[in-house]
Amino acid sequence: TRTQVAIVGGGPAGLLLSHLLHLTGIDSVVLDNRTAHTIETTHRAGILERDSVRLLVDAGVDRVLRDGHRHEGISLRFGGVSHRIDFEDLAGASCWLYPQTDVFVDLHRARTAAGADLRYGISDTEVTDVVDAPRVRHTGADGHRHEITADLVIGADGSRSICRTLVSGATQYFREYPYAWFGVLVEAPRSAPELIYTRSPQGFALISQRTASIQRMYFQCDPTENPRDWSDDRIWNELQTRLAGDDDFRLLEGPVLERAVLPFRSFVQTPMRHGRLLLAGDAAHTVPPTGAKGLNLALADARLLADAIEHALVKNDATALEHYTTRALARVWKAQHFSYWMTTMLHRAEDTSEFDELRQLGELDSLVTSRAGATYLAEGYTGWPTR
Ligand code: DHB
Repeated sequence: TRTQVAIVGGGPAGLLLSHLLHLTGIDSVVLDNRTAHTIETTHRAGILERDSVRLLVDAGVDRVLRDGHRHEGISLRFGGVSHRIDFEDLAGASCWLYPQTDVFVDLHRARTAAGADLRYGISDTEVTDVVDAPRVRHTGADGHRHEITADLVIGADGSRSICRTLVSGATQYFREYPYAWFGVLVEAPRSAPELIYTRSPQGFALISQRTASIQRMYFQCDPTENPRDWSDDRIWNELQTRLAGDDDFRLLEGPVLERAVLPFRSFVQTPMRHGRLLLAGDAAHTVPPTGAKGLNLALADARLLADAIEHALVKNDATALEHYTTRALARVWKAQHFSYWMTTMLHRAEDTSEFDELRQLGELDSLVTSRAGATYLAEGYTGWPTR
C-alpha cells in the first residue's frame, strides 16, 4: 500500500490526526496492535479542555456537546473543607467531562464512515527508513506480512512507543513519583455536582464522574499495591476517610465494577521529529494524571501536526515540520509543570516532614484565598489557548 501519511497508533491522537488530514484532502493509514474493542473498553481520563472540545466540534465530531457535561469549576478539598474554584468567573472558560473512550468511539466512527484504511489488531509492526522513504511493515489479521510506503510516518503509539526509539540522538527527561493511583469505576449516583480534588492526611483522592449511575474515583496508593487485595468495603472505607470533614460529607456508595493501579510519571522526549518521522501524544511525553492533561496534550499535538503536514505536503513548505517540536513542547512543558504542581500540592509522600505537610496546607490556603492563585489553577485546568 502507498499512502501519504502512515499513522502508527490508533488512539485519540492518531485517529484525530487521520481525520484532520482527511478534511484537508490528505490520505493516511492507521495501524494499531490493539483491537478497537480493547481501546473502547480501557478506561482512561475523562476531562476535555475548552479548546479540545472546540477542536473536535470544529472537525465535525460533536457528540460531546450532547452527551458530555460542561463543568464550570471544581472543588478543592483540604483540612476537611471544600473550596470551589469557579473556572467561568476566574478564567472565562469551562472544561467538559467526556471520557476518552467516547472520544475514541466518535473518531473511530467518523473515520470508518469516511471509508478510512484502519488496521486494528495487527502485530509485529516494524518502522524503517524514516529519514528518506518511510516503510511500515506489519502482520495483518489475515496472518500475512504487509508493507506500507508513505511520505511521512507518525508515531502516535503511546507510552510504550516503538517509534520513539527511532529518533536517534534524542534527549529524554524523566521524573518518578513515590505513589500511584488506585482507580475504580463504581455503580452509584453522583456524590457532588462537580469533581472533587482532595488532600487528606491519608493522601490524595479524586471524585470524578461518568454517568448518572456510574462514577470514576481515584485515591493515591503505593505503586506496588495489588488491586486484588482491595474488597469493595476496604475501597469505600479508604475513600470515605480521605473525603471526611466537618461538613459530614459522605460519598454515595455502590458496587465496585473495576479496579486498577495506575502508573505515575513525568516524561518528555525531544526532539519529536526525526527526518520523516514525527511523534504525537504519549509517545513523546507522559504526564502524571492529576489535572487530566494527557489526552488534551495528545489532541493538541494532532492539531499542530495536521497543520504542519498540510504545509509540508500540500504547500511544499518543508520547514513546517522543523517547527513542530518547538511548537508542541511549549504546551507540553506548561502541562508538565501544571501536572507536577497539582500532583505535589495534593499528594502525600511516605517520608514527608511535618514542615512539608504544613507548607502544603499553606500553599492550598494561599490558592483559595487569592484570586490570582485560583486563576492560575482555572487557566491551567481549562487549558491554554491553542494559538
Ligand atoms: C479524571 C481523571 C483525572 O486524572 C483528572 O484529573 C480528572 C478526571 C477522570 O478519569 O474522570
